[in-house]
Amino acid sequence: MIYLDNGATSFHKPPQVYRAVTEAMRTCANPGRGGYGAAMAASEKLYACREAAGKLFSCQPEQVVLTNNCTHGLNIAIHSLFRPGSRVVVTGFEHNAVTRPLHGLDARIVVAGRKLFDWADTLSEWEKALDRGADGAVFTHVSNVFGYILPVEQMAKCCRERGIPFIVDAAQSAGSLPVSLEALGAEFIAMPGHKGLLGPQGTGLLLCRNGGEPLLRGGTGSDSINQDMPADLPERLEAGTMNVPGFAGLTEGMCCLLRRGTEDIFRREHAQLRLAAEGLKKLGLEVFAGEHQAGTLSFRAGMDCEDAAAALAKQGIAVRAGLHCAPLAHRSAGTLDTGTVRISFGIDACFAQTRALLQGVSKGVCRKS
Ligand code: ALA
Repeated sequence: MIYLDNGATSFHKPPQVYRAVTEAMRTCANPGRGGYGAAMAASEKLYACREAAGKLFSCQPEQVVLTNNCTHGLNIAIHSLFRPGSRVVVTGFEHNAVTRPLHGLDARIVVAGRKLFDWADTLSEWEKALDRGADGAVFTHVSNVFGYILPVEQMAKCCRERGIPFIVDAAQSAGSLPVSLEALGAEFIAMPGHKGLLGPQGTGLLLCRNGGEPLLRGGTGSDSINQDMPADLPERLEAGTMNVPGFAGLTEGMCCLLRRGTEDIFRREHAQLRLAAEGLKKLGLEVFAGEHQAGTLSFRAGMDCEDAAAALAKQGIAVRAGLHCAPLAHRSAGTLDTGTVRISFGIDACFAQTRALLQGVSKGVCRKS
C-alpha cells in the first residue's frame, strides 16, 4: 500500500514502537498503584514519556498530561479556560475538535482569518478580532485539510501582548515542526500521540503552563482520602488507569524524533509535497497549494471526491476524502459543497510514493475530456 493518510494517523511506526508496546504489556502493572516492581515499572514508563515530551516541546515533565488523543486534550483545555458566553477567537481552519467543544459550551465563537496560505491576512484579521475583546483564543498550527502552516509565533505574541490566554492545536505539526510551550507561552498545547509523534492510537499529550480543570474525576493512586482531584499536575488531569503500553510506544516514537530531528522530517515531507502539487496541477486538477505549507495538500478532480479516493484505494493508494472533520476549513476555502481529496505525507515520504500517486491519479481519477 502507498500510504498517504498520515494526517489521520501515522501507519508505519518505527519497529521500536511495536516492541515497546508489547514489552510494557508483559512487564507493567498499574502505575502509582503499588510499590512492587511491576507497578513501579509502569510508573517509570509514564515518566519516561513525560521526559521525552519535555525534551521535544521545551517543558517540564510535570507539565505533560497524558491523554487519550488530541481531542481529549483540547476538551480539557477548552473547559479549563472558557465558560458559556465566553468570546473565543479561532482561525478559519479549525477542526471539529476545537469548534464542537466550544459550540457545546455555548461560547461565542469569532472566526478570524480565512484566506489560505496568506500570513498577512491571517495576522491582520487575528489582531482585529483580538482588539475587539476576547476571553481567549484557540488556533491550529497546521490545517489538517490544506496543510497551511499558520504564523503561530506571531499569533501567540499578539495574544500575549493583550494578556489573552490561548490554546494551540498541534495535531498536524507535532513531530514535523518545532513546538515549544515555553516559547509560545500558551496556556495549553494539545497534540495526538499517534500522528507525527509515531505512537499508538489512543495516546495524546496536553502540555499545560499552569494547571487546568479536570474533565474526568476518579482514582489517581495518590491523596486517596481527598474527594477533590489532586491540585498538582499531572495527576489533577489524569483520572483512572493509564494506557501504559500506548505511552511506552509513544516514548519510543518521540525518541526516534529526538534522534532524527524534526527539521529533517519536515524537509522530506515538504519536498514530496511540492512534487506532488506540481504533478497534480499538470494533470489538470485543482490543487490547493501555496507558501507556508506542510506535508499535506488537498485537491479536487472534477468528480465526487469519495469516488476519487475509492479509485485510488483500488490501486492501493490510501488517501482521505470528504470534509476531514473540519467543515470550517472547507467553508473558508470554498470547498464545503464538494469536500476535497487529501494527501498527507509522513516520516517515510519518498519519490516512489509521489510517483505512484501521480500514476494512480492519471489512471483512475483524471476526468477524460
Ligand atoms: N483529524 C484527523 C484527520 O485530519 C483524523 O484525518
